[in-house]
Amino acid sequence: GNKSINAKLVLLGDVGAGKSSLVLRFVKGQFVEFQESTIGAAFFSQTVAVNDATVKFEIWDTAGQERYHSLAPMYYRGAAAAIIVYDVTNQASFDRAKKWVEELKAQGNLNMVMALAGNKSDLLDAKKVVSEDAQTYAQANGLFFMETSAKTATNVNDLFYEIAKRLPRL
Ligand code: GTP
Ligand code: MG
Repeated sequence: GNKSINAKLVLLGDVGAGKSSLVLRFVKGQFVEFQESTIGAAFFSQTVAVNDATVKFEIWDTAGQERYHSLAPMYYRGAAAAIIVYDVTNQASFDRAKKWVEELKAQGNLNMVMALAGNKSDLLDAKKVVSEDAQTYAQANGLFFMETSAKTATNVNDLFYEIAKRLPRL
């Protein structure tokens, strides 16, 4: 029979990395050039079909601004999956992503599926973070890695689909 799975998913990452844009692309198929910075967090849901199951993602899109950092545990606590997002044109955002990974490894759910997303892959000329470095970091820390573009939609559905495939089947 077709199983139905509810999965809490949280997006974490630096201001402007593109968390909200990835969610907007995944949930509504849209992109806006002037996406407003998130205040607190925003909730969305979207369903993905994988093999024998339907996964309903309950998505918390958190705010990257430092003043909201203390709220983050409310959103990653009990989460089945996390997407840590950085901007491939911004080295500092990659450093911030590593900090989030450390925090999740220390405080998050042990079985959490973690994905590292290098977003804005459409900005080829401005790229600063080398793909191989991110891939090596992800592999060493048990995350899977994808470069995405919320703008062109490259790898956005694939990112959520890969997470859905990796969730434990209860
Ligand atoms: P906070 O809510 O402040 O934490 O930021 P965020 O991570 O949600 O980033 P947001 O989605 O608001 O995107 C920030 C800016 O980057 C916006 O102007 C987006 O249009 C732009 N942006 C997001 N994703 C992409 C992308 O894949 N490519 C390009 N070129 N721009 C993007
Ligand atoms: Mg946002």
